[in-house]
Amino acid sequence: MDSLAFLAWCCVQMLLLLITICRFSDCYDPLDPNGNITITFDVLSYVPNGYVARVTIQNYYQYRHVENPGWRFGWTWAKNEVILSMSGAFAIEKGNCSAFNQVPHSCKPDPVVSDLMPDLLDSTSQNRPDGCCRGGILTAWAINPSMSYSSFELTVGNLEQNTTGYKPLNLTLMAPGLGYTCGLLMETNPTHYSAIGGRRDEQVSRTWKSRCTYSSYLAYTTPICCVSLSTFYNPTITTCPSCSCGCKEANGNAISCVREGAVPSNSLGTDIVQCTNHMCPLRIHWHIKNNYQNHWRVKLTVSNYNYGRNFSDWNVLVQHPGFGLPASVYSFNSTTLSTIGVPEDVALFWGKEFYNTELLQADEHQLGSLTTEILLQKDPTSFTLRNGWGFPRRMYINGENCQMPPPDVFPMLPNGSPRQKPFHGQFPHLLSVLYFIYGTLFGF
Ligand SMILES: *[C@@H]1O[C@H](CO)[C@@H](O)[C@H](O)[C@H]1NC(C)=O
Ligand SMILES: *[C@@H]1O[C@H](CO)[C@@H](O)[C@H](O)[C@H]1NC(C)=O
Ligand SMILES: *[C@@H]1O[C@H](CO)[C@@H](O)[C@H](O)[C@H]1NC(C)=O
Ligand SMILES: *[C@@H]1O[C@H](CO)[C@@H](O)[C@H](O)[C@H]1NC(C)=O
Ligand SMILES: *[C@@H]1O[C@H](CO)[C@@H](O)[C@H](O)[C@H]1NC(C)=O
Ligand SMILES: *[C@@H]1O[C@H](CO)[C@@H](O)[C@H](O)[C@H]1NC(C)=O
Repeated sequence: MDSLAFLAWCCVQMLLLLITICRFSDCYDPLDPNGNITITFDVLSYVPNGYVARVTIQNYYQYRHVENPGWRFGWTWAKNEVILSMSGAFAIEKGNCSAFNQVPHSCKPDPVVSDLMPDLLDSTSQNRPDGCCRGGILTAWAINPSMSYSSFELTVGNLEQNTTGYKPLNLTLMAPGLGYTCGLLMETNPTHYSAIGGRRDEQVSRTWKSRCTYSSYLAYTTPICCVSLSTFYNPTITTCPSCSCGCKEANGNAISCVREGAVPSNSLGTDIVQCTNHMCPLRIHWHIKNNYQNHWRVKLTVSNYNYGRNFSDWNVLVQHPGFGLPASVYSFNSTTLSTIGVPEDVALFWGKEFYNTELLQADEHQLGSLTTEILLQKDPTSFTLRNGWGFPRRMYINGENCQMPPPDVFPMLPNGSPRQKPFHGQFPHLLSVLYFIYGTLFGF
């Protein structure tokens, strides 16, 4: 049995190593394989020495949104183009326009554009294109597709004589921080749209598209959240793995932390978190609360350890078997996602409007927190509390993967083997370890 235990231990180590490697490459997310932000330049018409274009930024990520302070989108002009005018957004810098009599909106060779705010001050004098002026916030596609895009219009001038325009180069998307990489703009079939109440089909002059993808490695040097577990049948709480999001002192990259209750006076907008052994700004706790004849009940709690940061329009993704059956989620809004090639069901949770769409910062008395109970139906053929079945396989917050505890420290059933000897003669347990390793690596 010792060799079995050793094998299992090796597997767990290998898993942790591979997860680490995975974080430092552009990891493919099997739960949202087609996720992207698509940027479309539609050339609507030509003007003397220029053209009018509509730019659309569409978020196709199922559970990743663009939050406050919103996106910033930039590019480099291929020649000496300038932006004569713009509606629905603005260039952050005007640049050197001294060569022009009629002053353009921006003469920067590499303009960066930001969305207007929804309030009237910004936009009374403007005609507002559809999809503008939302402060650069894009909702996640699975949560609210109608608010998942932004668009603005610009008139481009100073084109060289007799051309139909050059594609802008080197697109950059800050949404709002780092993390996105955009491909080249490619010529595609012109966009069609309907006119005359849907009875006439029209098309733009030409369309360029680029796809921007997210890599959490570019955005964060360490993970930003972790998972802890507990059950009604075992008094032991499985805490987040220590140093999940960096260690307190050993490593200089770790976020700065302060002791519980010692709130710094000027913490607003900073990344100061409460000191913990996991050092994560966010934690999800999964508690198996009751086991009824036909149902089982879970309590899900999200905690914010930041002293200076709120999370608006947060979402939590849970991969777990059995979520495909009807469930009652009491305090969060939810849906299930269809993911091809992932055997477990995937559920997405987010806040209820006017109730808990905001995950507040921690203060001297308490952590910022959100909680709900979930009543799940049992599928008698698969339901069990053995071998960690009742725990999620994977959890994300705002699209960021949370560090799970390794399966050998999951709370055990009381009649299972003692925690001190987790692999003692437990062949099914070893299988579950292997299952988790393959599940994590290959996303089945
Ligand atoms: C972007 O996402 C959409 C929706 O998932 C998908 O249809 C499209 O093919 C993706 N674009 C690229 C270039 O992968
Ligand atoms: C602004 O542009 C003009 C004309 O292109 C040029 O002569 C001038 O030196 C520029 N000024 C600065 C500060 O770059
Ligand atoms: C514009 O370019 C086309 C082809 O490149 C040429 O046939 C045409 O004569 C040009 N027109 C002018 C005004 O230069
Ligand atoms: C675009 O970016 C690449 C790499 O950063 C750089 O070599 C190139 O000069 C840039 N092109 C323009 C037009 O700025
Ligand atoms: C977070 O929200 C609370 C309550 O609305 C507010 O007092 C606080 O200033 C906000 N914090 C930040 C960093 O915006
Ligand atoms: C739940 O989400 C849906 C889709 O975004 C939305 O239409 C509905 O209003 C939300 N319900 C609540 C209570 O927030």
